[in-house]
Amino acid sequence: MALSAVVAGQQPQYPPAFPPTPILPSSINYAPSVMPTVMDLTAPNAQSICPGYTASNVQNGSSGLTADLTLAGPACNAYGNDVRDLTLSVQYQSKERLSVKIFPKYLVPGNQSLYILSPTLTPQPALELGASKANSDLAFTWTNSPSFQFQVSRVSTGDVIFSTYGSKIVFEDQFLELVTSMVPNYNIYGLAENLRGFRIPNNFTQTFWNAYNLENDQELDVNGHSVHPVYLETRYGNSSNSESLSHGVYARNAHGQEWLMRNTSITYRTIGGSFDLYFLSGSTPKEVISQYQTGVVNTPYLPAYWHLGFHQVRWSYQNWSNLQDVVDAYAAQNIQLEGIMNDLDYLKMNRDFTNNPGHYDVAPGKVFLDQLHANGQYYMPILDPNIYVPNPANASDAYPTYDAGAAVNAYIRNGNDSFYIGVEWPGFSVFPDFIVPQTQQFWTQQILAYHQNVSFDGFWLDVNDAVSFCTGSCGQGLVGENPIHVPFALPGDPNTSVAVDYRYPEFFNVTNATEAASASSALMSQSLMYPTPSATPTPTVGRTVPTPGVRNLTFPPYAINNFLAGHSLLKQVIAPNATHNDGPYNSTEYELHNLYGHTSGNATYNALKQVYPGKRPFFINRSTFAGSGNFTGHWGGDTNSMWGNMYFGISQALQFSIAGIPYFGVETCGFNGNADMELCTRWMQLSAWYPMYRNHNSRNTIAQEAYRWATTAEATRRIMNIRYSLLPYTYTLFHQANVAGQTVLRALPWEFPNDPSLKAVETQFMSGPALLVTPVLAPLATSVQGVFPGVANGTIWYDWYTLEKVNVSAGENKTLDAPLEHQPIHVRGGYIIPMQKAGNTTKTSRQMPWSLLVALDSSGKASGELYLDDGISLMPNATKNVELAFANNVLNITVSGNYNDNLPLANVTIAGVSSCPHNVSTGSTGSSGRAGWSGWSWPSSWRSSPSSWWSAPSHGQTGVVTCNSTSKVVYITNLQQATSNGIWTSNSMLVVQ
Ligand code: GLC
Repeated sequence: MALSAVVAGQQPQYPPAFPPTPILPSSINYAPSVMPTVMDLTAPNAQSICPGYTASNVQNGSSGLTADLTLAGPACNAYGNDVRDLTLSVQYQSKERLSVKIFPKYLVPGNQSLYILSPTLTPQPALELGASKANSDLAFTWTNSPSFQFQVSRVSTGDVIFSTYGSKIVFEDQFLELVTSMVPNYNIYGLAENLRGFRIPNNFTQTFWNAYNLENDQELDVNGHSVHPVYLETRYGNSSNSESLSHGVYARNAHGQEWLMRNTSITYRTIGGSFDLYFLSGSTPKEVISQYQTGVVNTPYLPAYWHLGFHQVRWSYQNWSNLQDVVDAYAAQNIQLEGIMNDLDYLKMNRDFTNNPGHYDVAPGKVFLDQLHANGQYYMPILDPNIYVPNPANASDAYPTYDAGAAVNAYIRNGNDSFYIGVEWPGFSVFPDFIVPQTQQFWTQQILAYHQNVSFDGFWLDVNDAVSFCTGSCGQGLVGENPIHVPFALPGDPNTSVAVDYRYPEFFNVTNATEAASASSALMSQSLMYPTPSATPTPTVGRTVPTPGVRNLTFPPYAINNFLAGHSLLKQVIAPNATHNDGPYNSTEYELHNLYGHTSGNATYNALKQVYPGKRPFFINRSTFAGSGNFTGHWGGDTNSMWGNMYFGISQALQFSIAGIPYFGVETCGFNGNADMELCTRWMQLSAWYPMYRNHNSRNTIAQEAYRWATTAEATRRIMNIRYSLLPYTYTLFHQANVAGQTVLRALPWEFPNDPSLKAVETQFMSGPALLVTPVLAPLATSVQGVFPGVANGTIWYDWYTLEKVNVSAGENKTLDAPLEHQPIHVRGGYIIPMQKAGNTTKTSRQMPWSLLVALDSSGKASGELYLDDGISLMPNATKNVELAFANNVLNITVSGNYNDNLPLANVTIAGVSSCPHNVSTGSTGSSGRAGWSGWSWPSSWRSSPSSWWSAPSHGQTGVVTCNSTSKVVYITNLQQATSNGIWTSNSMLVVQ
């Protein structure tokens, strides 16, 4: 097979070459700068100058209270116009959930959307039947002195979990603020999306404004692609073993906002909307997360079984045969590949629902896709929610997709008349307005029609943060110039400073000295040849002052700290004053910016459901909001091929576990910059634990598919075999997430909530309750350190590979061997893990016989679960739940449900036995023919031989028992024949004594 040359410089058709034609004013890419208010030492302090509110007309009821809040003094108009009259509404919505809403008393029709986030956009939880103050775990108290303040406390302990006492409520049309006091050294987690440590520092400001930066999309500590204003707080008891208590806070508001974490307080500020707060009583971290998902935003969707396979993509796969080469190379290297994805390359000049002529024509595509599908593999192209505006002066530029949307007013508008025209990959483009029904129809029709040509299996929806590469409706009057190139050089554009990316991971100069030297000199000459043009000076907008009755949408008086150069809300997005078509409100992007990813994602998911009626579509979304997990997965953005970026992906993944988006993964081996063998090897190992597993990189970097380096390929084969063998376990975790808001990837303190030493662990994590992963996150390492939680309380851990008990003392940071091809994994005693041997796809894996890994706890017990269905239907017509329990030397299998799985059980492995068994039988009497086990026949007893290894003779028609009396592992193998009617067809048992 020819590994086709996937190198910079050979690119398929793109809009005209860089630099763009001179029609683009040089300012097109720049927005004026603003000074972020959090950095502005002269900015007014709303807490000192604002009057706060006074509560009156308090109406108490059994499930809550309402009151009027009236401004308690002259308006301060700190960063907007004070709203004089507010309504307070407190509801004890369920035993575990309390809601506190503060919103304008007089909502003028027409401006409602400024304050109220519609429940049609994201769920708004309501009072549950039978809920009342008397039954609640939480209590609300308030006072009017000196102004209205409130507290939420936990009834059982009296602990105050949220308190505005000592501060004022500020409610203006463009600025809301409240302050809650916090305990010293508080532990909070969540507030996705951000690349930072797992435990949020107590001196950190989280800005929420969805943003994207092509050159450096992965800056630490800044606003990201998604907004999830929910945090989990854990408070540990004073004595070493006392129980921790956790609670959650969700602030349902989609406006630009900031959370200022400070030593003993959190200040919450938004630039619009209202206070719509939900307090969740927990009291364990897992309960908080579950309460958030089940009671607030809806639980995560259940992915199809095949979504859990491995996927490959890169920006620059130039044609169908290039894709075929990649598919073939994975097969030749014996590495599982479930899906191949396409980036923009498949499109004609980046226009949605087209095919790049000569590269991705429909007819050869059909041949490729038929073959792919016949192999049990899948194809997912990128989709961008922006529509190219054809050049009206050029008949050959006609673009029916644009016309179809224009005909039904499906696009966001520039004010009330024309469409808003920004710049996206295809050139001047419009943006579908996903909050109105005609856009859903338009979008669905386009997707359905395209599927007639290209039988894709799902989408990854990109740039819906929502990105526009110019300032304002810059294409107004200029579409006669289309197609234009984006106003900056794209990675790989010839004769530019980004033609080739010469960046390499940290320590590359140590491990690959010669290449590093030549890369660094090539970088030098490239940058000398194409110096980066100095940025066009942009005017700076000073702090704007509120104008009575007028909202300043582009430069609101409170400037959030958007990380993009200049900090402006106008930077690289659809401008905040662009209008939607939801008459009579005509909501603006100011209100809806952070929801564009959510709404475009929802519309795309709905369309995909039409493409595959009754099936679970593959769908991942770059920009998400609270509630998106109900229909989408997410990838972490354009991460860099750096060890530091790989490290922070773990915290990012855990944030999304809290946010209710478990189908999360990062760009394995890194997107920007070049990977090297060692980084890619370690990253393939780490990402094998992320539910969404894909490798993706940019077009100006070297190829990094898992087969590119022999060591990476070998490490990948090993880890992928483990991932695929665990599919039944992982799928069961997803089912539990779907029905009960459980998590898939877990932080250590969620499983061991009473051990304060685990509160900031971000270098290890768990997959479900039973597997502990200790990845290598640094270059040149052959070992890694990790902790083993729960040991002080008797938890046993087993090495995944040897099944030997780990010899570790409580609190020890143990050094584990981790040569390059090895990923340290440990199994928690007390769990039974159902598995199937890995096939080359999820489909073939699902046809393998079953096996069980029984990891005993210190009292010789273990339990586990297995969920089965057809793996694809939205409403499966049959399901099966299997309960697995081992105690007193007996493994009990209890099945319920009708899903038909006739596969046999191949083996049972038991780790941690106290001694080798003398007798293995299907019942206490050793009799044969127990349900589920046919022709079972064993000697009634065996003796352990003095040697450490012994095997029971294969007896009758089936079965071999092997025991290692040193490592205390029993292997019961060759059971297929005895269970040939299917192990999950009825209840059964196995006695091992
Ligand atoms: C964005 C995406 C990236 C994609 C690129 C081109 O940067 O995040 O995944 O490769 O656009 O489509």
